[in-house]
Parts: sequence; structure tokens; C-alpha cells
Amino acid sequence: MGRNKLQRFEENARMPHVVQASFEELLGPSPYPLRNRWKQFFKAGPGPLVLELGCGGGEYTLALARLFPEKRFIGVDKKGARIWKGARQSLEEGLPNVAFLRIQMHLIDRVFGPDDEVEEFWLPFPDPQPRRARAHRRLTHPRYLDLYRSFALPYARVHLKTDNEILMNFTLEVVHTQGLLLEEYISDVHLELPADHILRSVTTKYERMFLEEGRTIRYCRFRLFPSF
Ligand SMILES: C[S@@+](CC[C@H](N)C(=O)[O-])C[C@H]1O[C@@H](n2cnc3c(N)ncnc32)[C@H](O)[C@@H]1O
Repeated sequence: MGRNKLQRFEENARMPHVVQASFEELLGPSPYPLRNRWKQFFKAGPGPLVLELGCGGGEYTLALARLFPEKRFIGVDKKGARIWKGARQSLEEGLPNVAFLRIQMHLIDRVFGPDDEVEEFWLPFPDPQPRRARAHRRLTHPRYLDLYRSFALPYARVHLKTDNEILMNFTLEVVHTQGLLLEEYISDVHLELPADHILRSVTTKYERMFLEEGRTIRYCRFRLFPSF
């Protein structure tokens, strides 16, 4: 592990808005202390919760936090060195409505509970896991949607942005099979939307790489629960 990464880990440990839950804490007998209490965690006070899953540097967490100061944003990723970037930036900007959480996604329901009432999930460029045998690792797989439902509001929405056709088609199939409402589908974000639209103006690190390769960026938004 390079020195730079170690330094980032040390800085993460010192930043009050970076939460790093250990396996022992998550898998132990008592509930994780912040579970059902996330609304009290923020300097800005309580507010509706929005998660960015597989956030990397947290580009959407930061952009949305600036745009919607009344909401609370948490960037979630398993890689501390990536989270560090967004965490540093939010600290420098003094954003009181931002936090970062380092966990493995399959344990997310140990960290969030029903009282956290998450209302939106942003998934910018999650690993597409294109091999069929690894489909269960896609963050829009039904097993993940079930986890999200355990701590989401009934009208919660999921936003997916991806260059990957396999992941997008898979997700649309899940949406259809589960009877979820597909609110929007955009087949080419950078062609169809105006330059100042948040889906076009906020680009992530991976998105910029994909755009340089000439790939098409797709987007969909759907409701998490079938009755909404
Ligand atoms: C392709 S990168 C995209 C990062 C960022 N959203 C972007 O667009 O630049 C996928 C991210 O998801 C994270 N990730 C993948 N699987 C995960 C898991 N099971 N739990 C938590 N994070 C995960 C990776 O660490 C990585 O940062």
C-alpha cells in the first residue's frame, strides 16, 4: 500500500464526518450506534437523507449538497482512499450536510434502519459486473434493492447513471419484473440534455474516462417500491 493511501486513511480517521464501520461493529450482537439515528449526525441538523452508493470521490454527494442545503447527503464506498477526496473537499467548503461512510454494500442494512427514512439513492457508474455469474453483485440486483427498501421511504427513488448497456438493460428488466415505476430513461445524457442539467454538468471521475473513450452515458430513474 502506497504512503499516499496510508495518509488518506489517517486523515479519514480524523475527519468527524467520515464514518468507517468495522466488521466487528457491524456483525456484533448490538445494533450499530448510528443505525436509525443518522438524521441527528449532521452539523446542519436533521433533514431528508440521500445516499450516493459506490460514490468514489463523491462528485454527486458534493454537487447535490451544494444545491439542496435542506437535505443530508452520505457518500458510501468500500474504498477509503476514494472517499477521502470528497471528504476533504466538503470539509474545505464547510458543507454541513455531507458525510461519508466506508462499508461493504452488502452490509448497508446494518448501518441504516427504517427510522433513517432514506428518500433517494444515486448510483453513478457502479461496477457493471458484466459476467452473468456475477450479476448478484450489481448494485441494482433485487437482493440489493431489498436491502435499500429496509430503510427507505415508500416513495424513494433510485437514479442510475452508466455507460454499460448490460447493467442498464439488466436494471430495466428488474424494474419491469418487479412492477416498479420507471420515471425517466435517457439513452444519451450528453446529447439529449442541456449543458446546465445536473446529469450533464456533474461528471464523475469514471464518467470523464468513459466520455474520453467516446462511450454513451445512459440514465434511468425509478421508484424503489412497486406501489409508488
Ligand atoms: C466504477 S467505480 C465508480 C466511482 C464513482 N461513482 C465514479 O463514477 O467515478 C465503482 C465504485 O463502487 C465502489 N464499490 C464497488 N463495489 C462495492 C461494494 N460492494 N461496496 C461498497 N463500494 C463498492 C468501488 O470502490 C468504486 O469506488
